Amino acid sequence: MAQSNIETRWHLLDDARAVAAQAALWIQRAASRAIAQRGWFSIVLAGGNTPRLAYRLLVDTDTDWSRWVIYFGDERCLPPDHRDRNSRMAAAAWLDAVPIPADNVHVIPAQLGAEVAAPAYAKVIRAALPFDLVLLGIGEDGHTASLFPGQHHPAGQLVHAVYQAPKPPPERVSLSARALSETSELLVLASGADKAPAVRAWRSGVALPVAQVGGAGGVDVLLDKAADG
Ligand code: 6PG
Repeated sequence: MAQSNIETRWHLLDDARAVAAQAALWIQRAASRAIAQRGWFSIVLAGGNTPRLAYRLLVDTDTDWSRWVIYFGDERCLPPDHRDRNSRMAAAAWLDAVPIPADNVHVIPAQLGAEVAAPAYAKVIRAALPFDLVLLGIGEDGHTASLFPGQHHPAGQLVHAVYQAPKPPPERVSLSARALSETSELLVLASGADKAPAVRAWRSGVALPVAQVGGAGGVDVLLDKAADG
């Protein structure tokens, strides 16, 4: 992969709680802006522990939830109610506790298997682009969403079927770097010492998957001191 020249802005915070609080605030501001400008707000959610903390904080947002439209950056091919599903995590931490209309929550049908779910979700994503905000985590190996180092996917796809992911489960569905980059704002959350090597590699220009995502607006990274290592 080519070295990326995406503008990346680093925001250093004390700890994981501060990252989550700042992320929640960021999302709330982006939502207010989008809703005021054109009546709705579209956001792509990430899986992982750091985003989960932010989702819990969003429950108390003072907003018109009927104006929020939710998508997912990736999903694990597991039954819909499996505890390791990203959609299940977001529902438990946030979405089930607020009155977002069910039709506004676009879950990836990953239980059908990646081969079926990826093209089905690509139709949903094609109609949704561009997003207002894309939220991402980063893995210890520099993956983001379910875009893992060393994996290759057909260029031009909006949604990829992923097999043999190094982080379980091996079968997943992921928005492509191209789809994740079509957004007004892109926010990456990184907390904890286990992320420090990937953050260091990213900062020094290694072409990790997370470093390939970002559009004209660049990328904002909220990281804690441990992840800045
Ligand atoms: C997944 C995620 C993945 C995640 C990172 C960070 O489904 O596995 O979408 O990309 O965001 O691995 O996860 P943590 O915050 O738990 O480290």
